[in-house]
Amino acid sequence: MTGAGSGIGQATVLRLLDEGAAVVGADIAADGLATTQAKAPAGAQFTALAMDVADEQQVIDGVRRAVDTLGGLDSLVNAAGMLRAAHTHQTSAAMWNQIIAVNLTGTFLVVREALPTLLDNPRSTIVNFSSTSATFAHPYMAAYAASKGGIQAFTHSLALEYASRGLRAVCVAPGSIKSGITDTTAGYIPPDADWKLFSRLLPILPTSGTGFADPAVVAGVIAMLVSQDGAFITGTEIRIDGGTHA
Ligand SMILES: NC(=O)c1ccc[n+]([C@@H]2O[C@H](COP(=O)([O-])OP(=O)(O)OC[C@H]3O[C@@H](n4cnc5c(N)ncnc54)[C@H](O)[C@@H]3O)[C@@H](O)[C@H]2O)c1
Repeated sequence: MTGAGSGIGQATVLRLLDEGAAVVGADIAADGLATTQAKAPAGAQFTALAMDVADEQQVIDGVRRAVDTLGGLDSLVNAAGMLRAAHTHQTSAAMWNQIIAVNLTGTFLVVREALPTLLDNPRSTIVNFSSTSATFAHPYMAAYAASKGGIQAFTHSLALEYASRGLRAVCVAPGSIKSGITDTTAGYIPPDADWKLFSRLLPILPTSGTGFADPAVVAGVIAMLVSQDGAFITGTEIRIDGGTHA
C-alpha cells in the first residue's frame, strides 16, 4: 500500500489490518507512517516503509523489501499522490512534471516492480487511484486531472494484458474525501479563482455539513476489491464521490 501515512491510504491500511491482512505501508512521509503504525491494532502485521514513489531506485529497493517482508504479494494498492492547483497558463513545467512524476510515473514504477511477484499468484489485484477529476471538469487542476486520466488509461491496459494470468486491475475514483490533500487544497487555489466553479463538486449525499466524507468509505471499497468479492471486477473505475457526478 503506497500513500499509507495519511488519509485514504492510512484508512485502507487500518481496514485491511482489521481484516487480518499483513500489510507493508509505504510513504514518503516518515511522520505519517509513524501515525499509521501508532493506530495499528496491537499484534497487527504492519511494516512501515519509507519510499518516494517518484524515485526509481527507491521503488526498486522498496518493493523488494516489501516482498521479502511479506514473502509474496496478493495485492498492490497505489494511493500515493499529490495535488497542486493553479491556472493552467501559470503552471510551471516543474510543477507539471512533479505531479506527473509522483501520481502517474510513481504508480507505473510501483506496478512494474510488483508485477512479477503478483503474477506468481493464481489470483492477484492492483488498485490504482484515479479521481473524479479524470472524467469530470475540476477547476485549476489540469495537471492533476491529466495525471489521474493517465492512471485510468494505464489501468485499463494492465487489466487486458494480465487478465489471463489472474491479475485484476481496477481504479477507484474518489471525490470529496477528507484527507491531507483536501485539507490543504484551498491553500493552492489561485487568489483570483472563481469559486462558483467549485459548486460543481458538491456531494448529493449528506456529509455532516462538512462537504467531505471519512476516508473509511473508500477503504471499505478497496477491501472489497482486493477480496474474492471483487473477483469479476477488472478494467474499470469505481467512483466514490457521494453522488457529486450522479
Ligand atoms: N481525498 C479526495 O477527495 C481524493 C479525491 C480523488 C483522488 N484522491 C487520491 O487519493 C489518494 C490518497 O490521497 P488522500 O486524499 O488520502 O491525501 P493524503 O495527502 O492524505 O495522502 C496522500 C499520501 O501520499 C503520500 N505521498 C505523496 N507524495 C509521495 C511520494 N512521492 N512517494 C510516496 N508517498 C507520497 C503523502 O505523504 C500522503 O501520505 C491520492 O492518489 C489522491 O490523488 C483523493
